[in-house]
Amino acid sequence: MQIIYQMENKYKSVRPITDNNLPQVFIETYGCQMNVNDSEVVLSVLQQAGYALCDSLEKADVILVNTCSIRDNAEQRIWGRLDVFLQEKKRRKNVIVGILGCMAERLKAELLQHPAVDIVAGPDSYRDIARLVKALDSGEKQINTILSHEETYADISPVRLDKNGVSAFISIMRGCNNMCSYCVVPYTRGAERSRDPHSIVREAQELFDNGYKEVTLLGQNVDSYKWVNPDNPTESVNFAQLLELVALIDPKLRVRFSTSHPKDMGNGVLYTMAMYPNICNHIHLPVQSGSDAMLLKMNRKYTREKYMERVAKIREILPDCAISTDIIAGFCSETEQDHQDTLSLMKEVGYDSAFMFQYSLRPNTKAARHFVDDVPLAEKTRRLNEIIELQNTLSLASNQKTLGKVYQVLIEGVSKRSDEQLVGRTPQNKACVFDAKGYKIGDYVNVKIISCTSATLIAEIVEEATPEGAAKKIDFNDIRNDLKEIGKDLKNIINKEINNLIGSKNDKD
Ligand code: SAH
Ligand code: SF4
Ligand code: F3S
Repeated sequence: MQIIYQMENKYKSVRPITDNNLPQVFIETYGCQMNVNDSEVVLSVLQQAGYALCDSLEKADVILVNTCSIRDNAEQRIWGRLDVFLQEKKRRKNVIVGILGCMAERLKAELLQHPAVDIVAGPDSYRDIARLVKALDSGEKQINTILSHEETYADISPVRLDKNGVSAFISIMRGCNNMCSYCVVPYTRGAERSRDPHSIVREAQELFDNGYKEVTLLGQNVDSYKWVNPDNPTESVNFAQLLELVALIDPKLRVRFSTSHPKDMGNGVLYTMAMYPNICNHIHLPVQSGSDAMLLKMNRKYTREKYMERVAKIREILPDCAISTDIIAGFCSETEQDHQDTLSLMKEVGYDSAFMFQYSLRPNTKAARHFVDDVPLAEKTRRLNEIIELQNTLSLASNQKTLGKVYQVLIEGVSKRSDEQLVGRTPQNKACVFDAKGYKIGDYVNVKIISCTSATLIAEIVEEATPEGAAKKIDFNDIRNDLKEIGKDLKNIINKEINNLIGSKNDKD
């Protein structure tokens, strides 16, 4: 009875439990933010089954590695880690090694060939993880890579693995239906499905109640979030509405989201952002390429013009919103002109930051099956370096624009260089360093930017100043009231017209 009671309490807690008397699990995570959140789901399931988290490989009874397949080098890193785990298994005979995540899903039983691997578990099988560990008693290696059309882990409260207790990820959907020709994600994560908004709001509230001050809503394409109530199919929630529901939890809870897809990002999301000061003015809007020929081949379903139209709308509705992006250099048949188009688009947008990659062929994707990976490696590298160099200039220019301005920063940690300095981010997601002045992690402060590099803002805390952006939020209640008034007038005009028409019709009769 005592044990059950303890386990229920542990399950409710959002932080990991550490208890040397319980079986120890060690989790290593690679890849995107969604993988980080998935590891938190896995830990939650294992804690419920009686495991405790440990912070070193050498003490673990179970070693789990949550993997990424997005580029070949991501997978190569994992193969390297498996060799390290094998050494550990040679040292301690009973250690269990499990491969989770996208590489598990992509390579399936092939991974079981590696002598270090005992368990292979794909992204939709984490409820099954404790059973898989137990089933090893049979002497057989275990695998579950079944993808689901429904699984969203909605009812599982992730056990948080972040360091600071301030900022957490919430997955609002899983999978992807977009089939960009270069991308492995639809194969490793399966079909897109949206999570019940009630469970998302509950999770965000639970985080806020536990002292968290920022949530990032995650999906491969958040703009296609759509939840339809299974009990009442006429009731549905879209992403803009979900964003509003989460923003309404508390003005002191910052809300971020990622990733926006240019083909789906509507104005509703932008207006919702404009309404709520706690929704951070930052949009990650991956462009991939500035060339229409490449965008078509990548199956991104937008043109450069359409992308720039989205950017213009962001600038119009949210003038101080930061825009970041992802770019792929050297996709199949990319010409020098295509590459120049990417550089010119980058300048035209003036990105605040970017993640930039060389194209890496992923087996079985559309690009692997139908196109030739024909840009020589040296040429890909040259193009990528030019892209990185340009982005450094753009990031510096973007940071220089903040000089002298005041921003609200959420303090997330202590500076690596000095205990006397704190770090946090502006709503635009720019990292900021400043003297602590008695403030602590989790506090909001207003800071004035005094200098910068291309990567960091240097600032000082200012007590009495209005942060940049705060005053620019539109008061939509006023507009709503105006619209109601206009609506009334319109109704009157239309009624009059109808009465006139009926009148004239009656006259004719
Ligand atoms: N869902 C997000 C991105 C997910 S993957 C979106 O649609 O934007 C993150 C980034 O990895 C992608 O935006 C892309 O720039 C990059 N990427 C994906 N597949 C790649 C590949 N095969 N080679 C190089 N980069 C790739
Ligand atoms: Fe991959 Fe495209 Fe889906 Fe993003 S939207 S995960 S790039 S298929
Ligand atoms: Fe990698 Fe899978 Fe994320 S391939 S980027 S871990 S969805």
